[in-house]
Amino acid sequence: MLLVAPSLLASNFLKLEEECKMVNESEADWFHLDVMDGRFVPNISFGIPVIEHIRKVAEKSCDVHLMIEEPEKLTEAFAKAGADHLIVHIETCRNLHSNIQQIKSLGMKAGVAINPHTPVEMLYDILEDIHHVCMMSVNPGFGGQSFIPHTLKKIRELKHAIHERGLHVLIEIDGGVTLENAKAIVHAGADVLVAGNTVFKSPDPKNIIHQLKNIVC
Ligand code: DX5
Ligand code: ZN
Repeated sequence: MLLVAPSLLASNFLKLEEECKMVNESEADWFHLDVMDGRFVPNISFGIPVIEHIRKVAEKSCDVHLMIEEPEKLTEAFAKAGADHLIVHIETCRNLHSNIQQIKSLGMKAGVAINPHTPVEMLYDILEDIHHVCMMSVNPGFGGQSFIPHTLKKIRELKHAIHERGLHVLIEIDGGVTLENAKAIVHAGADVLVAGNTVFKSPDPKNIIHQLKNIVC
């Protein structure tokens, strides 16, 4: 079953509680929460105190996407804030295997994100240890960018590698997902669609989530 994870980065921060309730009432599966440090990516979003508050109203899993340097230093703090899934970028982890073990030892599911320039082969020796891959289909740091078409080839390659190993790692696609391109993304092998602007900038976000959930290819 296809999963949908609205990215709160595109929500109205002045109405965060209402936005969370909309996601609760919708057919969405996860809350996607983007944390940026102004170092790994050229932008700063929100962090631990905001996630603690979101966690109090969120009735679905919180999928926390860390776009930060040295994520291992804050893993415990994000666990305490209530993250259900913690995603670290392969480009920020010199000791990725131990970072993943740390995330799992704190009771969270581990995800690994890769940037558009990072080959999927870099993930092969870690696939059996993780819950999902967050494949960036834009350069991380900002919502509202256009989907990079080369991602479709990477999704197919990764899907093949996962199947070959008999694993059940989910492929999450993050960035530039729209109602127009979602079908091709799912057809290529995506299991989870992150959507920020497509959901929150719509006058009827629940309906957009419904449409994304029901993409058939
Ligand atoms: C980008 C973030 C994405 C972003 C997606 O760095 O990781 O999750 O919020 O936003 P849209 O769907 O608007 O491209
Ligand atoms: Zn994200």
